[in-house]
Amino acid sequence: MRLIFLGPPGAGKGTQAKLLTERYGIPQLSTGDMLRTAVAQATEVGMRAKAVMDAGQLVSDEIVNEIVSDRIDSADCARGFILDGYPRTVPQAVALDRMLEEKGLKLDAVIELKVDEAALVRRMENRVTETVAAGGTVRSDDNPEAFRRRLQEYREKTAPLSEHYARTGRLKTVDGMADVHTVTAEIEKILA
Ligand code: AP5
Repeated sequence: MRLIFLGPPGAGKGTQAKLLTERYGIPQLSTGDMLRTAVAQATEVGMRAKAVMDAGQLVSDEIVNEIVSDRIDSADCARGFILDGYPRTVPQAVALDRMLEEKGLKLDAVIELKVDEAALVRRMENRVTETVAAGGTVRSDDNPEAFRRRLQEYREKTAPLSEHYARTGRLKTVDGMADVHTVTAEIEKILA
């Protein structure tokens, strides 16, 4: 099972990817998490990515394509994987198509979570409140200014991907405004 989750920041990509990981026994490949780990470890990639991420902008295609290509080769991806937050630009989608072909792999589905923009801001604010209440560290891009920029980057660079995948009949759309478990059930119906 090889899946892609598409959707704006806060759409629930990570939430659904985690739930499906347990259900299907395949890993969640979140480029956001991988980049945050690189930043926390102050690796060369992390140092290049930090300011870009903090500003709510996209890290270069070259960096993320390489991270994903290497990750897909790991043993735990042999039975499949869920891509959460990648691809995010048309050149990334083209690079992914090429890398999967070279590795002899095929995508099973591209699932887009459709959500109202006003709800996304509330979800980001809720996440901040919950993180603070749990004594955790708030993401450095979960603030109004960076979030606005993340939404803008999504509209300009990521939204056109729906068309890329619709053209080849691979795009499935799910209402991401429903509660978490209803969204999961809808996704499972698509994958059945
Ligand atoms: P990334 O970490 O991918 O962040 P994002 O896409 O902005 O998405 P989020 O993690 O905010 O949202 P999500 O859709 O996963 O929602 P979640 O499940 O968390 O990327 C961060 C940065 O890294 C980027 O800005 C960029 O700089 C860089 N980056 C990453 N990938 C890149 C790439 N490919 N190319 C270039 N740069 C890249 O849910 C959000 C909240 O809503 C949670 O609190 C959750 O509990 C709640 N929630 C979830 N579902 C529901 C529901 N159905 N109803 C109510 N609440 C819900």
